[in-house]
Amino acid sequence: MKKRKILVTCALPYANSELHIAHARSTYIPGDIYVRYCRLKGHEIVFVSGTDEHGTPISIRAEEEGVTPIEVATKYYEQDVNDFKRLGISFDNFSRTSRKLHYENTQDVFLKLHEAGHIYEKDLSLPYCPNDKRFLPDRYVEGKCPYCGFDHARGDECDSCGRALHEGELLYPHCKLCGSPTIIEVSKHWYLKLSNFAEKLRTWLEEEDVLPVYGKEYLIGQYLEPGLEDICITRDLDWGVPVPLDDAEGKVIYVWFDAFLGYKTSTIEWAIEEAKDESKWKEFWLKDLAEEKDTELIHFIGKGIVYHHALFWPTELMGSGHRVPTKIPTYGYGNLEGRKMSKGRGWYVGLTEFLDNFDPDTLRYYWISYSNLLEDADFKWKEYQTKVNNELVSDLGNFIHRTLTFTNRFFDSVVQEINDLDEADNKFLEHLGELQKNIEKSIESFELRTGLTSIMDFMHKCNKYFNDKAPWKAIKEAPEKAKTTLGVCAKVVRALAIFMEPYLPFVAERLWKSLGFENSVHEQTWDAALEGFSAGHKIVDDPEPLFAKIDDKIIKAQEEKLKATLVEPSEPSEPTPLITFDDFKTLDMRVGKVVVAEHVEGTEKLIRMEVDLGAELGTRQIVSSLIGYYKPEELVNKQIIVLVNLKPAEIRGLKSNGMLLAAEDPQTGALGLLIVDRPLRPGSKIT
Ligand code: MF3
Ligand code: ZN
Repeated sequence: MKKRKILVTCALPYANSELHIAHARSTYIPGDIYVRYCRLKGHEIVFVSGTDEHGTPISIRAEEEGVTPIEVATKYYEQDVNDFKRLGISFDNFSRTSRKLHYENTQDVFLKLHEAGHIYEKDLSLPYCPNDKRFLPDRYVEGKCPYCGFDHARGDECDSCGRALHEGELLYPHCKLCGSPTIIEVSKHWYLKLSNFAEKLRTWLEEEDVLPVYGKEYLIGQYLEPGLEDICITRDLDWGVPVPLDDAEGKVIYVWFDAFLGYKTSTIEWAIEEAKDESKWKEFWLKDLAEEKDTELIHFIGKGIVYHHALFWPTELMGSGHRVPTKIPTYGYGNLEGRKMSKGRGWYVGLTEFLDNFDPDTLRYYWISYSNLLEDADFKWKEYQTKVNNELVSDLGNFIHRTLTFTNRFFDSVVQEINDLDEADNKFLEHLGELQKNIEKSIESFELRTGLTSIMDFMHKCNKYFNDKAPWKAIKEAPEKAKTTLGVCAKVVRALAIFMEPYLPFVAERLWKSLGFENSVHEQTWDAALEGFSAGHKIVDDPEPLFAKIDDKIIKAQEEKLKATLVEPSEPSEPTPLITFDDFKTLDMRVGKVVVAEHVEGTEKLIRMEVDLGAELGTRQIVSSLIGYYKPEELVNKQIIVLVNLKPAEIRGLKSNGMLLAAEDPQTGALGLLIVDRPLRPGSKIT
């Protein structure tokens, strides 16, 4: 079989907060399963990631906490390294995008793209805080969401309803730091010409099967069909990789542009520190060398960042002499008890906290077995308990436990040789061979889940085989048969340890040790999993239990804790209630022609108008605050709309009989009067 050379990556987590259990679902557990399997298959694997340390989430957090961005990032970098280790995510290197090497790497690629003509300049009108005297990129602007009313929506997206907001849609935009309303100022920025590569990208996506799980149709339909848009790759910020051009003071490279390059930085670091061969990274990254050495590049990501990885990132690569990814498996996210995980709202289970209290393999098992990986999954404590207690402890644990303890008790821990297989034995072993094929297929196609569920289905066959063979009876009546049965069972258990390794690496290792091996299950070979034991092999006398049952009390406590910390989100402002046509008819609105308009002396804003409303209603006086929006003389002869059955009011001693209709732009504050778009007789009704 051909040995492949594969660089595998997992998306770089942002170093602005700790990981929670759902982060593990879309990216890290799947990536690790794939990598562990490939290692057992004997492929040459380099598995890298690192923390994504730039961008406004980190600089804002630092500003809010009064510390430096690097302090924030360091804290989470360290925590992430620890969490990943404890979850068994077996990275060969885990870097940081704040390192010098990464800055050099990023600036180098930026300049290559610039020289090749894939980057151009453009003046942009951007939100600016007049108080802080700075531009407000990305998350530095907040406002009200026009769709759900959430007060802390960002300029480009509402975190509450999840909608993307277009330029200018955010209501009452203000500076996140000081609250001042934003103004617009012009700033020079640099764009990456994705459009230069639109066709190449399309062919690549269509012909290379780059997105084996999800994303191809979506990207073609949403981005390529309408015409791929260029993307701004610089920001007015001081936290990030400086733009390496002369006229770019105060500008840094956009966090996404540099984050991808973290994959490359981490590979270079690995080459220097782990592989002890400084140029070893090149065969995974440089186009010509990658082709020559036939290396692969696989990115594991959550499905929400597929545009970034399959359009934005390959443009960076194609335009700068790099290779493109071979595969980008994209998976769904995890929720918690039916809601989106949110630390702010107290609906949350941190990964550190989880791993302090529970077995890492139980989380790996839960997330992978829960549902098809493309779908979002839900973490429910009750279901978690059921899966651990019924599936892991009983279904998986029982057969293994019986095999081991039976071998201890009746055969002095010596694995029995297999002689005289009957039909049932043969069938059972055949199923084992099929199981191996199923797992291979599942992992190699990036589907991952059925590999694990077919192990669990196979466990039912194991338990049935053991019961049917009833070795506890046979040991007295036909001892040779009992020996064969236990020999078969031991061989199956040994194979299972290897089959489980990608999914449940800690359990697999515990089991491997219980089987009496001195070496590690992680170093075994997949293709030799069915080999069995050498003659006279002894397993340990007191095998460790694989999993412990989880008590009701523990689950209850977790559920209670969630309920206690949950802060219900404040109700978004009510949308205006629906009215009936009869309600509408109570409003008497007419076309009126302004005949006189004059500034009310002694007031700042008031204009007094005489409005002709036709024969029935005559001419009425209306007073309105319009100075600043209209000059009085502009109003004369305008055909405006007046609500005529509003109770008359007195404004500054002047009677105002009716209200004229106008609309206010919440963003700019501009005001416009409603007018009719063709001449109508005064008094005409609005219907
Ligand atoms: N930090 C980003 C996120 O969590 C992912 C960056 S992936 C990389 O969405 F490719 F840019 F590294
Ligand atoms: Zn401000």
